[in-house]
Amino acid sequence: MQKLTIRRPDDMHLHLRDGPALVRSVADSAHRFPRAIVMPNLVPPVTNTAQALDYRERILAALPAGPDFEPLMTLYLTETLNPDEIAVAQQSGHIHGIKLYPAGATTNAEFGVTRMERVYPVLERMEKLAMPLLVHGEVVDPAVDAFDREAIFIERELAPLMARFPGLRIVFEHITTREAADFVRAGPAHLVATITAHHILLNRNALFAGGIRPHHYCLPLLKREGHRQTLLEAATSGDPKFFLGTDSAPHTRYAKESACGCAGIYTAHAAIELYAEAFAAADALPRLEAFASQYGADFYGLPYNSGSVTLEALPGEVPASLSFGKDELIPFRAGEQLSWRIRP
Ligand code: DOR
Ligand code: ZN
Repeated sequence: MQKLTIRRPDDMHLHLRDGPALVRSVADSAHRFPRAIVMPNLVPPVTNTAQALDYRERILAALPAGPDFEPLMTLYLTETLNPDEIAVAQQSGHIHGIKLYPAGATTNAEFGVTRMERVYPVLERMEKLAMPLLVHGEVVDPAVDAFDREAIFIERELAPLMARFPGLRIVFEHITTREAADFVRAGPAHLVATITAHHILLNRNALFAGGIRPHHYCLPLLKREGHRQTLLEAATSGDPKFFLGTDSAPHTRYAKESACGCAGIYTAHAAIELYAEAFAAADALPRLEAFASQYGADFYGLPYNSGSVTLEALPGEVPASLSFGKDELIPFRAGEQLSWRIRP
């Protein structure tokens, strides 16, 4: 298949950042996705409805003329979040989930949760109101190997949480392991997962290809080849529990190419093209539309997007760097080729 037309897709996990950076991030995403679930890990984090609505306005103000784009906002779960805020968020009509970061697990996660019991009252309210919990699923225990943090999180945190709140709607974000895919598949219908393009295109060797590769450093870390294959199988299986969420996470070149580089891979400039490449490699292009444009909307109770996008199997070059506010950004595949393009 050299050409594929699908309903316009949704990015159900996206970092846009704030301020001048929005010019780049919003334009790239809006060119491909008319809607995205927007992560709240700004500094300071987006912890209440008023802040989320203000942030939404800043995103819309950065939107270039042309594409329509609906930012689907989220709140950052802190130990001081008032359970009553869940109803306020829901009534706003713009807030679609509450994001759980184990404290210290990733970029700007220091405001997150240190002990799950501290947020039980909030989770109880979310379960009652059917507000989804979006989970960064990694333990932060320094005794746990960095590549095992997701698998151990399932045993220590996620399974007990689900036993306590059996009706809680949960998105296990950016899964990276066979253990996570199996756990989601075996769970109830209201447990789902997002899968990034980079985790189905790369294994952990990409971190060390000829030298240390900071632009392939993300969290959760890339994993072994067997896990990549399992994730690709899950994404292309036609199982509605798995859907598209890029986790595109821009950092400046300076912040990445550093003695202590930031976690995050920027894929927004080529996201749907990259998924098309992965699905084509698995001979599963006919399954891309449901993964990208239906299953996520179904979970979040949103109508499908109108309109379509046509992808063509044609080479395209990724620039070596992109402007990012006053700085520069090194995108995924910088200076290299893509094998799919969006028809203009
Ligand atoms: O690689 C990542 N980058 N993983 C995350 O969980 C956060 C994200 C970011 O915000 O930079
Ligand atoms: Zn993320």
